[in-house]
Amino acid sequence: MENIQPSVEKVLKLYKTRADFHGDENAVLNGSITFDPRHINIIIDYLTRQALLEYMKPDKNDVVIDFGCGVGRLTYIVAPLVKKIYGLDITPELLAIAKKRQQKSNANNIEFLQLNSEKFDLPSVQFDKLFFVGTLVHIGDELLDIILPKIFAGLKPNGKITLIEYLKTDKSLSQNNEVIMRSHEHLKNIFEKHGFKISVLKPAIRMPSYSIMIWKKMSARFSFLLPFLYLLEKATLKRKPQFVDYYYYAVEIKKA
Ligand SMILES: C[S@@+](CC[C@H](N)C(=O)[O-])C[C@H]1O[C@@H](n2cnc3c(N)ncnc32)[C@H](O)[C@@H]1O
Repeated sequence: MENIQPSVEKVLKLYKTRADFHGDENAVLNGSITFDPRHINIIIDYLTRQALLEYMKPDKNDVVIDFGCGVGRLTYIVAPLVKKIYGLDITPELLAIAKKRQQKSNANNIEFLQLNSEKFDLPSVQFDKLFFVGTLVHIGDELLDIILPKIFAGLKPNGKITLIEYLKTDKSLSQNNEVIMRSHEHLKNIFEKHGFKISVLKPAIRMPSYSIMIWKKMSARFSFLLPFLYLLEKATLKRKPQFVDYYYYAVEIKKA
């Protein structure tokens, strides 16, 4: 059988189309260009950022890497909470949006850098934390074999990686030219192969999600209720597991 894996070329094309179409954060959330995703993206943005902050626990002394930062959606959220943050991505059109925002903001501890999509060299600094949100699903195993040793080399001994990423709930693997959805075991094997160990792996957002279903019936005027919807999401994660398609998992990974 043909071994189809996400290809950098196809992923770049996907995000160029989304960046050109949306020109903002909607390019990296539900980036649909066939329906208007802006309302649903308000809650996806909120749930994913809260999950990241809860598990990553940013500290004011941290040097952090946002791997696959896109338009800098989360880079800008984390920046005021840490010492320094690097936003790295392969898609130039998304980084251009991130940098444009930087000209208007006073975030002077952010550095956006374009990754070379063959070498994946990281900035030559030691970092405390690195996170992937919705990015690992675009990186096939062959690319991870190039990227993970570079992360291992740069991560401080007590540092950690946080993922907020889709994983399969069963043992199967599904992948195409743009996305790879791994099982827990697959994820564990690939990180262990490169000297890491998984210390936490918990569902963070259920798909389909009760909180998202409720939000869809509300107007954006009710944004003040988003913190309650995050609590509802947490309270309903394990509800009716037979109807769960997949979860965004929160994963904490350290050096073994
Ligand atoms: C769903 S978006 C998420 C962006 C951002 N993490 C967020 O949550 O707002 C996925 C991002 O992964 C980036 N990406 C895909 N493959 C990558 C790779 N091999 N190396 C670095 N970034 C990659 C894309 O360019 C895109 O910005």
